[in-house]
Amino acid sequence: MSERAILLKGGLVAGARAVDRNDVLVVDGVIAAVALDLAAPEGAAVLDVSGCVVGPGLVDLHTHLREPGDEEAETIESASRAAALGGYTAIMAMPNTEPACDSASVVADVLARGRSASCEVAVAGAITVGREGRSLAPMAEMAELGVTLFTDDGACVHDGDVMRRALEYAKGLSVTCAQHCEDPALAAGGVMHEGAWSSMLGLPGQPTLAETSIVARDLGLVALTGATLHFLHLSAPESVRLVAAARDRGLPVTCEAAPHHLTLDDAQCVNYDPRFKVNPPLRPTVLVAELIELLRAGAIDAVATDHAPHASERKDVPFDEASPGMLGLQHALGLTVVALGGTERLDLLALFDLLSRRPAAIARLRGADERRAGHSAQGGDIEVGEAANLCAIDLESPTVVTDASIASRSKNSPYVGRTLPVTVRHTLLRGVPTVLDGAAVR
Ligand code: DOR
Repeated sequence: MSERAILLKGGLVAGARAVDRNDVLVVDGVIAAVALDLAAPEGAAVLDVSGCVVGPGLVDLHTHLREPGDEEAETIESASRAAALGGYTAIMAMPNTEPACDSASVVADVLARGRSASCEVAVAGAITVGREGRSLAPMAEMAELGVTLFTDDGACVHDGDVMRRALEYAKGLSVTCAQHCEDPALAAGGVMHEGAWSSMLGLPGQPTLAETSIVARDLGLVALTGATLHFLHLSAPESVRLVAAARDRGLPVTCEAAPHHLTLDDAQCVNYDPRFKVNPPLRPTVLVAELIELLRAGAIDAVATDHAPHASERKDVPFDEASPGMLGLQHALGLTVVALGGTERLDLLALFDLLSRRPAAIARLRGADERRAGHSAQGGDIEVGEAANLCAIDLESPTVVTDASIASRSKNSPYVGRTLPVTVRHTLLRGVPTVLDGAAVR
């Protein structure tokens, strides 16, 4: 197939404000035409996308790559292939690698390794040295390389004074901090949500207050400093309500929810299956239903995967000893469609806002910053001149999740055996296919 010109023919195109039936012509990595009944230029490849919606490539704000340091669990290559199969054209690498991504040299290394990946790899820098929560990491030198998001994710910056100084520093650098909200004292020892199921199973739990108390404190710090803060993987509806109210008052805050918190509840832990162990933990059905309501009401800015691969020796152990985390990149889209109510009356604008446009804006993957890091613009409109970071999603063919279909090196997916309502048909990265007819091509 010619990689220069590709015509996507017969699909629905999800623009930023409207969904229209249109063909999309891509030439040299850029959208060259969007119109009905476009003729294929000579030599162009034609992809039949009837039954599909064509939208901006998905952007994940929250990926654990495991490289460097834990390549047995995942590599940039395997994670980015899983991402492409999930419709993603960009992912944000979390800094809890070995070594931690807390200096310009590690940032430069991960950015360089990401250049040959199946999607663009943006890098989040650590807020504190070694993600230990004590002294601030050299954020300025990382920002120089185009880093726009800073977090100790996997750990909470629990010292209020350190977080305050991080926010003040971030404001001066015009970058965004992102918090993993977990009060270590309130969460200590808790391996699942504290409630009826943890009592029944005899497992120590952690209350939602471990999350909401940090959200409340950090909203106060945002009011004090005026810095921008993003709240990672919020699992408690009360956390989202606090952030939404603050945003409505004009504070520069955003939040994400993970697909698993929108589709799985704590009852899944009934068989002590470690695939359902995650931080923050799965919540009770009533709270999941409230989180879904908040998603549909627009209170949540982005759905982000918290893709957390773990090698089998860290998952095939008793529940309380297992590492927390589950795979997310390949199936987040289907799960988000489920959370939004299924394909029947799917709000496609909301879908691409949650999975592409808002995350791209939060990560600043559009504009000067992304060019500094050597990336192309993500989360754009489907219009002439935009970088051709695109995905085509088949709304008429469901996907059955199987072990064999998992592209990650680790297999810790809780969704094996589940049928998801949509299939990613094609993914284009800067106009070059990374997925064709549901199969990875690089
Ligand atoms: O369950 C989790 N796993 N939550 C996190 O915040 C970190 C992640 C990991 O790195 O495994």
